[in-house]
Amino acid sequence: MISINDLLTRMVKECRPYCKTGKVASYIPELSAYDKNLLGIYLIRTDLREHFAGDSTAEFTMQSVSKVLILLAALIDTDLNRIKTKISFEPSHDGFNSIVNLETRDSHKPLNPFINSGAILSIGFSNGKTYEDKFCRILSLLHEITGNKNIGIHEGVYKSEKMTGSRNRALAYFMKSVGVLDGDVEEVLDAYFKICAIKVTVKELAQIAATLANRGISVSTGKRVFSPEAAQTVNAMMMLCGMYDESGSFAVSVGLPSKSGVGGGIMSVSPGKVGVGIYGPALNEKGSSIAGIELLKKLRNELDIGVF
Ligand code: DON
Repeated sequence: MISINDLLTRMVKECRPYCKTGKVASYIPELSAYDKNLLGIYLIRTDLREHFAGDSTAEFTMQSVSKVLILLAALIDTDLNRIKTKISFEPSHDGFNSIVNLETRDSHKPLNPFINSGAILSIGFSNGKTYEDKFCRILSLLHEITGNKNIGIHEGVYKSEKMTGSRNRALAYFMKSVGVLDGDVEEVLDAYFKICAIKVTVKELAQIAATLANRGISVSTGKRVFSPEAAQTVNAMMMLCGMYDESGSFAVSVGLPSKSGVGGGIMSVSPGKVGVGIYGPALNEKGSSIAGIELLKKLRNELDIGVF
């Protein structure tokens, strides 16, 4: 019988040609330097077995995958009902950095915590007096989940986005202007840009995903990091909004709660079974790893891990 490692190696080989059909993100200048042919995968099962293949040691920045950490910290440090007073939990069919719903909805509430406006606002719910403290809180949550205190940020990517992040500034200043966002906008954004620039490999994404699959008990340390209810909320949001305005078609073709980022990462959860981390910086037009999505389709079929 073929081993899972051999199966993953074969799937990475079959999916790598898709990298050529995507583009590396360039609106954050530093990201454009990444090699678009990279593709790696890491799996951690809830019985703690681990499997990997391809470019599994390549480092990249979390970008929007970090929105899962922001939401988890908010759910741990405050309660869901308080978050709901400021942010809706509904899918969006607009792009991840769209401003349109913020302006046209009466409440000016972001549609969900996984679009940029919702994530920027969610940072405020985590513990910490200042936004620098809140950034440290969110990074330390990742340290707790992975058991690895050495994880930090990619300074070059952080500075590159801080210098060029006009769209996020527009979203944040709009929310400030209508009274939705409290505090100093530049400080909030500084924390957001740092969180997006947290540097990981597919292993750390798999550790977060497997901890979500394990209902909040870290697969790396055996300690409870968040409640089963928080895992349930985050998994539901990942299914409905994690792949932005292609979350519906992704639910049909893959059927796993997932979160993508323009750094090329995708994190997927099969509740009770397995957490998956994927890296492939060549993106489709929605901002998700093009070969990564193909890899997940194969994985779902080969291992029968879809939730539907
Ligand atoms: O805020 C931004 O635009 C980026 N730091 C993150 C966006 C992102 O990853 C969207 N993902 N697909």
